Amino acid sequence: MKVIRAKDSCEAGAFAAELIAAQVKQKPVCVLGLATGSTPLDTYAQLIAAYRAGELDFSCVRSVNLDEYVGLGPDHDQSYAWFMWHNLFERINIDPHNTHIPDGITANPDAECQRYDALIASLGGVDLQLLGIGPNAHIGFNEPGDAFIPETHVVELTDSTISANARFFASVDQVPRQAITMGIRAILQARKVVLIATGTGKAKAVCDAFWGPVTPMVPASILQLHPDFTLVADDDALSLTPSSN
Ligand code: F6R
Repeated sequence: MKVIRAKDSCEAGAFAAELIAAQVKQKPVCVLGLATGSTPLDTYAQLIAAYRAGELDFSCVRSVNLDEYVGLGPDHDQSYAWFMWHNLFERINIDPHNTHIPDGITANPDAECQRYDALIASLGGVDLQLLGIGPNAHIGFNEPGDAFIPETHVVELTDSTISANARFFASVDQVPRQAITMGIRAILQARKVVLIATGTGKAKAVCDAFWGPVTPMVPASILQLHPDFTLVADDDALSLTPSSN
């Protein structure tokens, strides 16, 4: 595991964007695994700026997103499809046909999960997977549990995740209770993994995940086993790690 320490979320976003930019320049026809949430917003802003400056070309890039809420379609302003379109895709020259997100309003979620894994396989897997981390150390929506789940699957969101994400909805009751998430296998098979963690709210998750034992109760801990894993974290997110004490 490599750790890149940033002074704040803006700098963390810049560091992560540099890693993604290097990937796109090195292999223009690459597959990026993308995340939503507050954390990657600085990174996406940096990528948009690099595109506008003529430094980056996304025309051959393919993307697969980690997850989507069950019940929310792309027209819902809290769907992850909406998030990706407005925060990244419409502002760069990626071909919308090359962007992929699980279908949250499918009539058959189990079939959608199988389709998504087959899609990732057909793209040749993920070259660089960008991740955030939940306060409970989830990655994607792989929630703490008794076992790591390899496949894309429908997950019951935990109370911790529902309350963490309630800030985006009018009330906690409106947060969907289920999501479709990429499983641990596709994440671990990504050739590079970059996880961004910022803020004191992530400090315990970061400490448990990367300075504690590997366990499905701390889903991000599995990344300790990845051969090319980079943690990009700011001082606040690293404030509970042994090296910070
Ligand atoms: C989002 C995702 C989640 C988030 C995590 C952190 O696609 O997969 O794992 O990365 O919940 O969310 P934020 O960044 O909002 O704190």
